[in-house]
Amino acid sequence: MIITTERTGDVLVVVSNNPPVNALGHAVRLGLAKAIEEAAADPAVKAVVIRCDGRTFFAGADITEFGKPMQDPQLPEMLEALEASGKPVVAAIHGTALGGGLETALACHYRIAVPSAKMGLPEVKLGILPGAGGTQRLPRVVGAAAALEMIVGGAPIGAKKALDVGLIDRLATEGNLAAEAIAFAQEIADVRPLPRTSEKTAVAEPGVFEAFRAANARKMKGFEAPEACITAIKAAVELPFAEGLEVERGLIKTLVASDQSKAQRHIFFAERAAAKVDGLPADTPLIPVQSVGVIGAGTMGGGIAMNFLSIGIPVTILEMKQEALDRGVATVAKNYANNVKSGRMTQEQADKAVALLKPTLSYDDLGAADLIIEAVFENMDVKKEVFAKLDKVAKAGAILASNTSYLDVDEIAAVTSRPEYVLGMHFFSPANVMKLLEVVRGAKTSDSVLATAMSLAKSIKKIAVVAGVCYGFIGNRMLKPRQDQAGQLILEGAKPSDVDRVFLDFGFPMGPFQLADLAGLDIGWHRDPTRRETVREALCAEGRLGQKSGSGFYDYDEKRQRTPSPVAEKIIAEYAASKGIAQRVISDDEVRERCLYTLVNEGAKVLEEGKAQRASDIDVVWVFGYGWPVYLGGPMKWADQIGLKTVVDGLKRQADRLGPDFTISPLLAAKAEKGETFN
Ligand code: 3HC
Ligand code: NAI
Repeated sequence: MIITTERTGDVLVVVSNNPPVNALGHAVRLGLAKAIEEAAADPAVKAVVIRCDGRTFFAGADITEFGKPMQDPQLPEMLEALEASGKPVVAAIHGTALGGGLETALACHYRIAVPSAKMGLPEVKLGILPGAGGTQRLPRVVGAAAALEMIVGGAPIGAKKALDVGLIDRLATEGNLAAEAIAFAQEIADVRPLPRTSEKTAVAEPGVFEAFRAANARKMKGFEAPEACITAIKAAVELPFAEGLEVERGLIKTLVASDQSKAQRHIFFAERAAAKVDGLPADTPLIPVQSVGVIGAGTMGGGIAMNFLSIGIPVTILEMKQEALDRGVATVAKNYANNVKSGRMTQEQADKAVALLKPTLSYDDLGAADLIIEAVFENMDVKKEVFAKLDKVAKAGAILASNTSYLDVDEIAAVTSRPEYVLGMHFFSPANVMKLLEVVRGAKTSDSVLATAMSLAKSIKKIAVVAGVCYGFIGNRMLKPRQDQAGQLILEGAKPSDVDRVFLDFGFPMGPFQLADLAGLDIGWHRDPTRRETVREALCAEGRLGQKSGSGFYDYDEKRQRTPSPVAEKIIAEYAASKGIAQRVISDDEVRERCLYTLVNEGAKVLEEGKAQRASDIDVVWVFGYGWPVYLGGPMKWADQIGLKTVVDGLKRQADRLGPDFTISPLLAAKAEKGETFN
């Protein structure tokens, strides 16, 4: 039985037991509807408590039912019956009351929650809006301003804040929710009239909607759901409840069927699927990781260290020279200070984290570490030297990881006497912020080592994706054709700003040339201005090193605002002429097809070679590591949505321009031919 009822005195306690998260699937809705009828029919019942067993109160509608015919009772109707109950209903909340779960609580007459509970309406993250009255009830309880934050922002709030804003009526003692909810129900059993949310008025300060839109324009750009949420909340303020519900219903119907929502739901499940490693037994033993070593305190090493320091794991960080070590440690301390300034951390938390960092110049200090992550220069010889040293000092059973971006992890592992303990842990810059972690499984990496890396990723709040060994793994491998084509396009006549505009219009936060200027054009530059073998070298030779020098592909003002640069464009045109490349007018479609279809094509090759476990893993990599707009679901989902035949036709159209080595992935071609999709 998923929904059971039991009597305590004159209180009917309705309990849901639908693991793992008490999603409001058909059986739950049916059970709740019946329980409401039972309460109405039984004269001995004076009040009702609804609570959940397991780890959480209802965490929302059952997302797996979306897009299929919904079986009655529907959630909105069930909640209307619940609110209309002539006997008071108390929602007893623990865990996460999300989406339809919070909407259920809002339809109850009273709400009580334990202090650790969280409440939110995250539907916007799935490309929809709260569709069971949430957009109409929440503003009536907390006002339009707070409702906008919760519904358009999608982030949950804690129980204490919920009490402050009037979302709940009472806090319960942790661990004693069931009893205190019953006591609450007994206390209010005779209070009339019943406080029905739909009968309240939604309060809105003048100008609140315009102000919210202006403040959040950047975050909302490209997404359809946020504006629909605002429209619905406005309806709650301006229209009677029943009419507001109609507005909400119309909007959710459109959103659920939209490609954006399908893409965002795809990413929700893709993120969870990525954590699962095919063929890895569930009982694979994990290696306890209580201390970490990091080699190299540069751009990546410091950020990598912070992930562990922040969750209380001590880190020993090693450099070659004292000066580099001091610089690296100072950067970590500065980043923590910034976290305190921005309110992301308390001073005490930051101090605790910094105190766990131990700088060293001696490999002997790494002997006790359970996991050692190497983040030195991207050079095979240097990496091999480091791993050979590690093999001597690391204790037996320690995991040895490389943060390499491109290099062969098996070749690195081969210099050790314990390749089964070696793998890649490829973080993204800035490593303390970016969510993605590519876990690179070497040919000899043991199951335990792999499982430990995946589990550790979860502890440091990363989204881990397993990748096989190949040049650039999943993400950087697919980035390469995109970058190559972008570079080629500007030689053939496209302006860097035109290429970037196509990317921005697509939904990327940045175009390839903005990114290049930001990172610095002199990365890996030989520093000889007479050697101009690439456009970048030609730009560097003219002192155009990117943002830091005030000019690169663009010109920058003191505020680092960019403008297209006639000087850079001339350098590019001259370079192209020196290579005999004719310039012509290039359409946006050509930019899109050459840069993005080739990227999808490379993704298909990654799949057919088994370097990614599933297409959705590739989508996760691009959404969480490379700024692919989540509402386009990642490159493979996007290709599915526009049609694989469209992609193949585009690639065939551009084939002459894609270079002599370009080939269409047989997997992509076959799927396009059969009308199939990747996901
Ligand atoms: N429907 C169906 N399955 C769900 C689900 C949901 N709403 N929420 C979680 N699950 C599944 C997950 O897919 C996962 O399945 P798996 O084990 O087979 O991979 C399992 O439950 C456990 O989920 P997590 O791994 O995410 O567990 P956590 O403990 O890390 O997180 C959580 C729990 C915070 C509840 C998180 O799962 C979550 O955020 N869920 C989604 C909440 C949400 O978006 N709710 C709104 C739904 S839309 C809605 O309600 C529409 C309404 O307005 C009409
Ligand atoms: P970096 O140049 O900023 O830092 C490297 C650090 O390693 C330097 O401080 C250097 O002094 C130190 N170092 C070099 N050899 C050493 C040795 N033998 N022993 C100890 N320390 C040594 O480089 P960055 O950017 O941090 O890159 C490090 C690794 O991370 C590279 O493999 C790179 O490909 C990879 N990576 C870089 C990303 C980025 O965006 N910068 C993103 C993801 C991975």
